Amino acid sequence: MSRVLSGTQPTHEYLHLGNYFGALRQYVTLQERYDEALYFIADYHSMTTLRDAKVRREYTHNVALDYLAAGVDPEHSLVFRQSDVPAVCELTWLLSTVTPMGMLERAHAYKDKIAKGQPADHGLFAYPVLMASDILIYDSDAVPVGQDQKQHLEMTRDMAQRFNQTYDSEALKLPEPYILEDVAVVPGTDGGKMSKSTGNVIPMFASQKQIKKAVMGIVTDSTPVEDPKDVTAVVFQLWSLFATKDEREDMKQRAAAGGVGYGDVKKDILKRLLDYFGPMRERREDYLKRPDDVEDILQRGAARARTIAEPVLARCREAAGFQP
Ligand code: ADP
Ligand code: TRP
Repeated sequence: MSRVLSGTQPTHEYLHLGNYFGALRQYVTLQERYDEALYFIADYHSMTTLRDAKVRREYTHNVALDYLAAGVDPEHSLVFRQSDVPAVCELTWLLSTVTPMGMLERAHAYKDKIAKGQPADHGLFAYPVLMASDILIYDSDAVPVGQDQKQHLEMTRDMAQRFNQTYDSEALKLPEPYILEDVAVVPGTDGGKMSKSTGNVIPMFASQKQIKKAVMGIVTDSTPVEDPKDVTAVVFQLWSLFATKDEREDMKQRAAAGGVGYGDVKKDILKRLLDYFGPMRERREDYLKRPDDVEDILQRGAARARTIAEPVLARCREAAGFQP
C-alpha cells in the first residue's frame, strides 16, 4: 500500500501562492498516483503561534475549504484534522525519547526565535517531533512540501531510523520528501520567500481587490520600459508560475530585447491568476455554503486515518516493550 501525505497549518485566513505552487498543487496531482492520499490540517502545530481558539476553528475550516477548492478530491483523498487522530501525540512521545537535543536546537523555527531573542516554549522546540509523528504514523511514502520543510523531513527520517535501531525493529517506514525544484521556494512580493508571517503574500482566495493590491505591490527596479530586463526578477518569477514553457521562453527573449514594462507584466499576472484560480474559487464558494458537508468529509477522513494510525502505533509500542 503506497501513501502520500502532507499538512498545512491553519495560521492565516487564506493559503497563498507559495503554499499552492510549493505544495498544494502537488497534493492534487499525487492523489491519483498513490493508493492512498492523506491531507490534514496541522491544528496542533498552529498552537505554537496562534493562541485564539475561535480563530483557530475558523482558519481550520478555511484550510479545509482551500484544499477542497484546489482539487483535493474527498472521494480520493482523506482530508482531516491532525487533532482528530490522538495516536499522533502518543507516537510523538515515543519519538521524543530517541531525538537528541542537538537535532532540535538546529531546527529553523526554534533557532530563528532564539536568534531574535524571543522566548520559545517546549511546543515550538518539539515541533519537528510532532511533525515526524504526523508522517510516520501513517507509514507515508511521499511527502509533498516546499523547500522550507526539507530539514524537517530529514529529521523525520533520522528519528525513524533511531527508533528502529534502538529497538532493533522495522516498526517505522522511512518517507521521501517530494519537492519540485522549480517551485521549491516561491518568492513573495518583496522578493523574500513568500510567507504568511512576513506579509508579502498573494493569497489565492482573498477578494479581487486584495489580490490586485498584492500583485501591483510586487517590487520592481527603476529600469525604463525600453531597456532590457533581468528575467530573474521577482515579477517575472511570479509571472512564470502562470505561463507555459513556450511563453516563458518568449518572455525571456522579449525582456532581453527591451520594451517590456513591469506594469503590463503585473496586469498580465493578475489576469492569469484570476483565470487560473477562477474555477477553484467557484468550488470554494460552493463548499462555503455547505459547512456540514465539509465537517462530514473531515470526520470521515479522520475515522479512516485512525484505522491506519492505530496498527502503526501498536507496532511501535510492541517494539518498545509495551502492550500493543
Ligand atoms: P507559511 O510559510 O506561509 O507559514 P506553511 O508553513 O503553512 O506556510 O506551509 C505550508 C506548505 O506550503 C509547506 O509545504 C511549505 O513548504 C509550503 N510553502 C510555504 N511557503 C512556500 C513558498 N514560498 N514556496 C514554496 N513552498 C512554500
Ligand atoms: N510544518 C509544516 C509547515 O509548516 C506543516 C506540517 C505539519 C506538515 N506536519 C506535517 C507538513 C507533516 C508535511 C507533513 O508547513
